[in-house]
Amino acid sequence: MQRMTVRDIVKMKGRQKITMLTVYDYSMARILSETDLDMFLVGDSLGMNVLGFPSTLQVTMDHMVHHTRAVVRANPRQMIVVDMPFMSYELSNETAVRNAGELVREGADAVKLEGGVEMFERVKSIVRAGIPVMGHIGLTPQRYLALGGYRLIKDEEKILADAMALEEAGVFSIVIENVYAEIAKRVTEEVSVPTICIGAGPHCDGQVLVLHDLLGLGDISPYFAKKYLDLKTEIRDAVRKYTSEVREGKFPSRENYRVRDS
Ligand code: KIV
Repeated sequence: MQRMTVRDIVKMKGRQKITMLTVYDYSMARILSETDLDMFLVGDSLGMNVLGFPSTLQVTMDHMVHHTRAVVRANPRQMIVVDMPFMSYELSNETAVRNAGELVREGADAVKLEGGVEMFERVKSIVRAGIPVMGHIGLTPQRYLALGGYRLIKDEEKILADAMALEEAGVFSIVIENVYAEIAKRVTEEVSVPTICIGAGPHCDGQVLVLHDLLGLGDISPYFAKKYLDLKTEIRDAVRKYTSEVREGKFPSRENYRVRDS
């Protein structure tokens, strides 16, 4: 089956809502590859969700490469976007291009980086190297220290200027996180590339969620996430059933083991 491309995603603007979820490993990537989801995001939120870090600031290129390889091995139909981790693109255009190139070599179809106006040159350099870039504006978690926490971003003119700068620099789409729905609507109307929102209302061209929030696996879920499943409870129940069956001698049962023919 053909992998979704940047062109497929761009063409969806105004026609069909785009769907994206974070995916961090092979087994989930295999399962999700059998759905009609459009895009996988190997998000740096893997730092909190699978590595137990307090934030995304501890995530390195080595972590992203490791998880990208696992997702790529699932050979999904979905386009694979990979987050550029903190400090992998801020220092210089050259570093940004080299690190984006490394992620693409590992199988990423595009990279995502956080920031707007201030990332204009970085995005332009990566795009010039032939690598598709997804922008990320509004709440940018890699800057939560400077922002004073994970909060709703309200500065409409700055958000709009960031989106315009990213469009001019050549991004193929923009994630808008945690802003008023009216602001995301305005951005969506004013840029030619698809907007993909998280905590920014229904007027965007698409939506993205963290898979752990959707499945009910996360420790803390933001107000804008929707839990479609309570997998944490299901997992605990299954494990409790297993331990009691072992203790009661119910597992393994006859179909779970072989005996020598007599
Ligand atoms: O890493 C991540 O999960 C993200 C989403 C919040 C879009 O960047």
